[in-house]
Amino acid sequence: MNEQVQEKNIYHPHLMEIIKVIPETGDTKTFHIKFQDQTLAKSFSFLAGQFAEYSVFGEGEATFCISSSPTRLTHLEFSVKKVGRVTSALHQLNEGDLIGFRGPYGNHFPLDKLRGQNLLFVGGGIGLAPLRSLIHNVVDTREDYRQITILYGARTPQDLCFRYDLEAWVKNPTLTMVPTVDAGDKNWKGKVGLVPMVLEELKPSPVETVAITCGPPIMIRYTLKALDKLGFTPPQVWTTLEMKMKCGLGKCGRCNIGPLYVCKDGPVFSLEEIRNFISDEF
Ligand SMILES: Cc1cc2nc3c(=O)[nH]c(=O)nc-3n(C[C@H](O)[C@H](O)[C@H](O)COP(=O)(O)OP(=O)(O)OC[C@H]3O[C@@H](n4cnc5c(N)ncnc54)[C@H](O)[C@@H]3O)c2cc1C
Ligand code: FES
Repeated sequence: MNEQVQEKNIYHPHLMEIIKVIPETGDTKTFHIKFQDQTLAKSFSFLAGQFAEYSVFGEGEATFCISSSPTRLTHLEFSVKKVGRVTSALHQLNEGDLIGFRGPYGNHFPLDKLRGQNLLFVGGGIGLAPLRSLIHNVVDTREDYRQITILYGARTPQDLCFRYDLEAWVKNPTLTMVPTVDAGDKNWKGKVGLVPMVLEELKPSPVETVAITCGPPIMIRYTLKALDKLGFTPPQVWTTLEMKMKCGLGKCGRCNIGPLYVCKDGPVFSLEEIRNFISDEF
């Protein structure tokens, strides 16, 4: 294929080298990657909330959010829970291996609506990955925001992702970090309880506050109920959806929710935008 044709192929992935692999939990790993092409590396940019298509050659392609922050562009990070074919193949890879990358795709968290507000992050399990990109972003531009509260839960202490970040956020005096687990162990000193339950206990004020949530569907369902009880209105609540995708580009029609394409119109939506379509999802 000549170069000109390749340039025009929207599905053509760029080569990325894995430079670090961090085991997060028994089934989740974070990969640090960098572009092989230095010119591309210098010109690449993205916004928190965007995703990309990652390929393992000979196995296939899968969608993951970019879990690092646009304010830290030395390399990119993405985190993968092993659930099937491509994710298992990714888990076999090591430093020095090459993968394909195309993106960034989709919209992003609405920084213009978040600036000057209190931010409440509510995450569960691997759902912290997209929130983490935004959390690092707002930590790096801390003066633009008011109070920042992060509530993050997992089934057990061993299932908590990004423990190195959680420790740093607990120590950061400008953040309120509340980790919780469904079931603790003898070393666990944090809260024990489901995320929506702990959220109700914390009673964050909805005044000038934006809530941003991502996690398993059951957690989202009860988190939305808890936020409603606390007085948050649909325009104050944002989430990022993980519908099954193929092209990532609005071409295959695989990812719709109502009239919206998650890959093009999302993945980030306010509850106001999606509340009429999500009853089957959550
Ligand atoms: C915008 C977006 C961002 C995402 N970000 C992340 C991320 O940061 N980290 C992460 O681990 N995963 C993320 N996902 C989910 C990820 O894309 C799937 O887990 C992955 O594609 C599965 O690939 P596989 O070939 O291993 O699974 P397959 O072998 O294709 O399927 C294995 C099982 O997983 C189910 N499955 C596959 N894709 C999805 C999906 N999108 N949602 C729910 N169930 C699915 C299948 O139905 C099947 O039961 C994201 C998805 C989207 C759309
Ligand atoms: S993934 Fe193809 S249209 Fe959205």
